[in-house]
Amino acid sequence: MKKIIAANWKMNPQSQDKAEALMDKTIKELSDLKDADVIFNVPFLFLKDLLKYKKNHIHIGAQNVFWEDEGAYTGEISPLMLKNMGVEYVIIGHSERRRYLKETDEMINKKILKALKNKLKVILCVGEEAKNDSFDVLEEELQADLNGIVKSSFKNIIVAYEPIWAIGTGAADNADDVEQKILFIRRLIARLSNTKTAFDVPMLYGGSVDEFNSSSFLRKENINGFLIGSISLKPKYFLSIIKQTSYAPAKGN
Ligand code: PGA
Repeated sequence: MKKIIAANWKMNPQSQDKAEALMDKTIKELSDLKDADVIFNVPFLFLKDLLKYKKNHIHIGAQNVFWEDEGAYTGEISPLMLKNMGVEYVIIGHSERRRYLKETDEMINKKILKALKNKLKVILCVGEEAKNDSFDVLEEELQADLNGIVKSSFKNIIVAYEPIWAIGTGAADNADDVEQKILFIRRLIARLSNTKTAFDVPMLYGGSVDEFNSSSFLRKENINGFLIGSISLKPKYFLSIIKQTSYAPAKGN
């Protein structure tokens, strides 16, 4: 499976000019990229402008979406608006939204179902709160988030396993443990669909990925790429991670 490197710019940068400058700098060296797909998940305000950068291996995504197509929902953005604008991907269920905006699994499930119905590709974020939380936490979260998703829709889902304790802390999880968690997630998805479907779902790791620790994750065949926050705002280091995908195992899972 081709590696996927997804950037999560979060609430950055602070102007359209800066967003374009960041994009220019980042994709300058990506023209002959063969071994990875790069997805830039940017603030809503910059989507229209940054969609001009979309091409074969460069994709543009949003960081959130609402669960209805239209109506009286002040301040929200619908999946249909995103689709009509040409956006391909959307992050759903990021832990910062679960935490600061009190998004529940039920809300996340509704968002996923509506995004899929509108032919958006979903990057679903899941992950346990504390380092010693059991696998049950993940299981409960995934089962609630993926409730009612039909087998044929899994081809439009990417799962980002992001242990909350590792996000933005500088303390990434280790590659062996991440692979175990990812295999656990795959088994769970296999129960909801089948083994082949589950092994075709790209599984990303997120949480303090940087240019130094990235190679250990990329060596694992079950880790199909990353969701990267702070380093995605630093083109030099972000590019260095993308370039490392050329040395990752060629075979899929
Ligand atoms: P980080 O963020 O890379 O800054 O830890 C990852 C994320 O929140 O998706």
